[in-house]
Formats: sequence, C-alpha cells, structure tokens
Amino acid sequence: MQISRRDNTPDNAMLINFTNLRRARTARPLVIERGRGIFLIDENGREYIEGTASFYSAALGFSNDDLTEAAIRQMRSLPAYASGIYRTVPAALALGERLAALAPMKGARVAFASTGSEANDFLIKFMRFRNAHLGQPKRTKVIARTGSYHGGTMATAALGGFPGTAAAFNLPMDDALTVSQPDYINLALAGESEDEFTARMLLEIEQTIEQAGPETVGAMILDPVSYSAGCVLPPRGYLTGLRELLTHYGVQMFDDEVITGFCRTGNMFAADTFGFTPDCMTLAKALSAAYQPISAIVMSGAFYDVLERASDAIGTMPHAGTYSGHPVAAAVALRMLEIIEERDLVGHVRAVAPRLHTHIHAMAGHELVFNTRALGLGGAVQFHPIKDQRGARGQAMQQAMMDHGLLLRVVGDTINFAPPLIITTAEIDEMMRRFTAALETLPRETA
Ligand SMILES: Cc1ncc(COP(=O)(O)O)c(C=O)c1O
Repeated sequence: MQISRRDNTPDNAMLINFTNLRRARTARPLVIERGRGIFLIDENGREYIEGTASFYSAALGFSNDDLTEAAIRQMRSLPAYASGIYRTVPAALALGERLAALAPMKGARVAFASTGSEANDFLIKFMRFRNAHLGQPKRTKVIARTGSYHGGTMATAALGGFPGTAAAFNLPMDDALTVSQPDYINLALAGESEDEFTARMLLEIEQTIEQAGPETVGAMILDPVSYSAGCVLPPRGYLTGLRELLTHYGVQMFDDEVITGFCRTGNMFAADTFGFTPDCMTLAKALSAAYQPISAIVMSGAFYDVLERASDAIGTMPHAGTYSGHPVAAAVALRMLEIIEERDLVGHVRAVAPRLHTHIHAMAGHELVFNTRALGLGGAVQFHPIKDQRGARGQAMQQAMMDHGLLLRVVGDTINFAPPLIITTAEIDEMMRRFTAALETLPRETA
C-alpha cells in the first residue's frame, strides 16, 4: 500500500534545540556531513575544528573505527533487546560491572538510561521512591545551582539551568530549590577572598535547607565544573565542604558528571579530581563518546539497598525503559571504557592539557578579555561585555570563529573549550590559532 504524504514542509520541524524557531524557518543551519578526528566537514565542503566536542560529548572525535566496529559486531549478533523482567544482554551486564568498579562510591550499583536528562530524572524519581520507603515522603525537594543545566525533562528543566526556563515552560517548581552558582570570578564581593566566598556559598545552601525544612530536602544536584554556567570551576574547599554539609542534613549528593565524567578534568571523574565521594553519580556523553545514546545512574550501595528493600515491599521496581541498557549502546560504551585504558586517555589528557592551559591563559592580557580559566582538557575565555549588550561580544565571536573554521560553545560572553580527548598538541595549537585569528577580527572598543 502506498503511504500518502501529507502536505507538510519537510524542513520545518527539525530544529528546536536552543534555537529561535522563527529564525530556524528561514536560516539554513550549519549542516555537518562528515567527520575525521577532531575535524568536521559541512555540506559545502568547509572544514571546522569541533573545540567543544559537540556539546561536550564526542570524546574520541568523529572517526573512531573501534567504536564503529563494536557497534557493527553487536548489530550483527543482537541488534535489539530490552533489558527487564529478569532478562538482559551480556554487554549491559558487563558495562554495569565495569562502571560499578570504577565508581568512587562503596558497593556501587548501576542502572541505565538513554540520555543525561533521563539519568538525572530517573535518579530524582528513585530518590522519592527511596525516601517514601524510609518513611520520609516529604523529602522530595532538590537543590540545584543557577546556570547548572541538568536536562530537558519536566523534573530536570526546573533545576538550576538557564534562568527563566522553568517559568517559560510553566513547570512545577514546588520541589526545586535554587542556590547561587559558586562563581568566584564573577560573583565575589569586593575584597572577598576565595575561602570567604566558599564559606558564603555553603552558608547560603545551609540556610536554604533550613528555610525549606531539612525534612523536606532530598538531594542536591551539581555539575562539579559547570560548563553551562561558563566553565565555572568550584572555589577552593567548596565540594568537600558541601559533602560534609549535605551529610549533616541527610541530604543526598547527586554528582552530575554528564560532562565531567571520563577524563575531562584529568581524572576518570571530577569526584576524583576534587576529592569528594557523592552518593550517586550520573554519566552520559563521553560514556559512549556519543556514538550511541546511553547514560548511567551509579548509586552507592547504601542508596541502592533501600531501593532493593522498597521494591521488595511492593513486589517489583515499578520502573523501566525500553532502551535502558540497549545492546548496541552498551557494547559501544564497553568498548569506550576499554579504549580509555588501552590508550591511557587520562595520561593523554594530563600530557596535552598544559598546552591548552598555556594558550588559554596567554589570552589573559588581551584588552577584550576579562578572565581565563582552565582545568584538565577544558577551559574558558571570558570577554568583557559590551556596555548594555551582555552576550553580544560572545555572539560576535561565535560568528567570527565559524568564519575561521572553529566551533566552540558560547555562554554569554564566555567561550568554552572542551575538545575531543584525543586532540594532539599540534591540533591544540591550530585550534588556538583559529581562535586568535577570530578574536583579532572583533571590534576593539571595550566600553
Ligand atoms: C551537566 C549536564 N547534565 C545533563 C545534561 C543532559 O544530558 P542530555 O542532553 O544527554 O539529556 C547535560 C547536557 O548537556 C549536561 O551538560
């Protein structure tokens, strides 16, 4: 039977993500056709460096044959099967074991999902399940930090994120508590030392818990380095102090490592870099180098044990996802974990990161630059805003960089760097050459 086509215009519906929908109707997007290493080629044959690894995800660049072959092998042996009801696939089992062994928490247990948003959303749901079983059904509130993005679902879009998102979507906000982004560079008071700033940030969180009523607060979710807030590095003592504070109030610490997981900060996880142990961790993006959609929720044994008891009490865990632990995605992620070891990606990041830091910090003296920061294979150059036009310089730089064959994420007037982890020092030099050339085309007036 012939399937009839309706009279819809074909390219209207596709571009929604962080896009002005009216503009998307008329402006043709950049259409990327191919990739090789850290380079991309668009439909017109123009070449770009992807300096933020495509939303911080394509950790091995765009042409890793090992991952492709792992996917093909799995596609040939078992391309689809839903894990659940006491059935699963070897790749999901092996991946769960491997992740649990890597995690910093004691007795870690792993559940799968398909995206970072879903992992965070599921985790919040698990928290509510757990607390209800513990006889604390009021512990439903989640604290997040302004500017920290945790996803696009109903629950996660209400947390922190871009100011105005929750209101724009008219999201239920009763259980979302918002505290400041610990951005010492931009939010310190005049003369405030870094230690004083950390203490003030922790006090704000304590007061938020006290005001809400500690018996109503279930968790705090945080991205240890907040790229969505402009590559905000945690001030000294913040994460370890936060760990103590949350433990004191019985509030779970949810470590969103969707961006920072898998070598980005120079260790396997940012929790290792900053020396704290979360209660739960969410992983996505680099977990499969973004070759397949897969995410993971890693829970401490203590957190998981309550889920186990709660499911026992009602007979089952009333939760599932058809693609949670999808065989092809799991096989690719498993191969990714092997590659991290085989290629010593942590060692590679540590070896090439100083080159990136040197380049980034060399920008500090530029008249348009307000601040530079770097950690592991990431960092940012923050410009002085143009007077009364916050973000305009960032947008101008966005265009200039594209004209010079460079794709980076722009947050206001801050330009984030987080290249694929496989980048070489020569490629870092080339990326920064393009960045500098783009910068030189920007008008100079700082006022
Ligand atoms: C820190 C963080 N958490 C969660 C998410 C959501 O992940 P996804 O887009 O895979 O749903 C993102 C996405 O950029 C993120 O940066």
